[in-house]
Amino acid sequence: MFAQIAPTYDRMNGLMSLRLHRRWRRFAVASLGLSPGSTVLDVCCGTGDFLVPLRKAVGPKGRVFAGDFCLPMLELARDKDDRASLALADAGGLPYADESFDGVTVGWGIRNVPDVDRVHREIFRVLRPGGVFVSLDMARPRGRVLGAASAWAFNRIVPALGRWIGQAEAYRYLPESTQRFMTREELAESMAWAGFADVAWRDLFFGNVCLHRGKKT
Ligand SMILES: C[S@@+](CC[C@H](N)C(=O)[O-])C[C@H]1O[C@@H](n2cnc3c(N)ncnc32)[C@H](O)[C@@H]1O
Repeated sequence: MFAQIAPTYDRMNGLMSLRLHRRWRRFAVASLGLSPGSTVLDVCCGTGDFLVPLRKAVGPKGRVFAGDFCLPMLELARDKDDRASLALADAGGLPYADESFDGVTVGWGIRNVPDVDRVHREIFRVLRPGGVFVSLDMARPRGRVLGAASAWAFNRIVPALGRWIGQAEAYRYLPESTQRFMTREELAESMAWAGFADVAWRDLFFGNVCLHRGKKT
């Protein structure tokens, strides 16, 4: 499915987020607290939209790594930062040594993995003590009115956009996987179980998107 949507992924992302996703990514990267020269990893990197703000944060002397298990996605990521080290990698078994990174990002990736605890544990393993992990993903807004408005947009507009670009099935998966996805509290619990301290989250886009953050102490 990811290979199939790769060519139209960036266009759909822009449309569905009303072009706000870049702002959320900048916010997520800012909350990593990186400094020039840091080493960072983007897991489930897709077409690489986290690479630009990550490169900005670590500067020319920093090192940016990114991995995804879908080759057509990775090939598009190459265009976003040609100095980044890209790897064909499953999030459940990251091909990096323990304590390699100062910060790790995941954007809309955790919702898709079969074993969230395992991925959180892997991210914890590859972070250095003091390192920070942030994950942006879909969430279900709290409150009846916002919940109903969001369900309408997700069940009507998103699949219609999907049909328009010829990707009907993939964009039925998005609302379905969001409905099935763990709650904010369950995600935070999984991160704490994996070892993260100071786990916190912040709602964005009226609670349709949520940023989770945790630190390896
Ligand atoms: C919705 S896209 C998000 C892409 C990108 N992170 C972003 O912020 O736009 C989800 C990505 O996660 C990748 N993915 C899903 N499960 C994975 C896994 N187990 N290991 C590695 N990548 C995975 C998919 O190939 C896809 O590129």
